Amino acid sequence: MAVTSTAHPSTGMLAGHPVRRIGFGAMQLEFRKTSAEVRESAPAVLRRAVELGVNHIDTAQFYGDGTLNRVIGETLHAERDNLVIVSKLGAEHVAGSGLVAAQRPEQLRAQVEANLTSLGLQQIPVVNLRRADTAPGIIATGDQSVDLDAQLAALSDLRAEGKIGAIGLSNVSLSQLQQALPAGIVCVQNMYNVLERADEPILQLCLSNNIAWVPFFPLGSGFPGQPKVADQPDVIVIARRLDVTPAQVALAWLLAHAPNILLIPGTANMLHLAENVAIESIRLDEEAMSTLEELV
Ligand SMILES: NC(=O)c1ccc[n+]([C@@H]2O[C@H](COP(=O)([O-])OP(=O)(O)OC[C@H]3O[C@@H](n4cnc5c(N)ncnc54)[C@H](OP(=O)(O)O)[C@@H]3O)[C@@H](O)[C@H]2O)c1
Repeated sequence: MAVTSTAHPSTGMLAGHPVRRIGFGAMQLEFRKTSAEVRESAPAVLRRAVELGVNHIDTAQFYGDGTLNRVIGETLHAERDNLVIVSKLGAEHVAGSGLVAAQRPEQLRAQVEANLTSLGLQQIPVVNLRRADTAPGIIATGDQSVDLDAQLAALSDLRAEGKIGAIGLSNVSLSQLQQALPAGIVCVQNMYNVLERADEPILQLCLSNNIAWVPFFPLGSGFPGQPKVADQPDVIVIARRLDVTPAQVALAWLLAHAPNILLIPGTANMLHLAENVAIESIRLDEEAMSTLEELV
């Protein structure tokens, strides 16, 4: 295993909690699975993630019908005080319609209550307000186009009541983040990876405000049509030279790129999970970093 010179710390801060920089995105545990399949397969992966030292888990009540959150709550009950479980608000599953926007303040409050029940928590350490103004994903229209300040007021009330520990944002623009800063934002979860860096200015604003940057799609996602970092030819060449996998190159670049980046790669595969956690000890050399920095 590789090589050298760009050092990066293995822990970061999230809402005042020290966390390993390699967390776990739970969405893949539900992706294209029935509730019965989630119940069958997810517990072992979740247990293994925690055994490997992961203490930051990203989820959502709307990943499926809530089963995944219930499985997380049951499987990790004994460890819950040592974990930073992060959920997101702004969408819900409606029978017959699938995933729809649920952005209104009273809907956000109802989603917090649903998350507390399904996860079995007294407080959700962090919730991300997942805006739906732009792709990817559903776009909010009509009465779902909600003023950001009204949402932040609802979330600030929930924080004051102790139901949530801290507020994060997801899928936001630079101006939305600037608007939200006075509310006290602890993390931003936007799409970002070595091939997709349109949100670099938002990352930099987070860095200068001590806000964690927790990108979704760090590997390019499991969705068809999204560029996969591990398929990029330069990434493959670097991986061969350093005797690591292309996915590890993708994740190691993120860790080295900025100190406020925390990772939540998603996997339902035990080998991939171990591979992803192992990137803490991988250091990309200067040649690899300079090739990767120039990819976009
Ligand atoms: N805020 C938002 O709007 C939003 C949107 C999407 C996702 N998220 C969160 O972000 C997390 C990460 O995003 P994501 O899961 O969509 O995408 P991702 O982490 O970029 O990629 C996941 C895909 O990569 C594969 N993979 C993972 N590790 C691998 C490895 N070591 N080698 C090869 N393939 C590997 C997974 O398949 P295998 O299962 O086969 O490993 C899956 O197909 C999600 O789990 C979710 O918690 C948030």
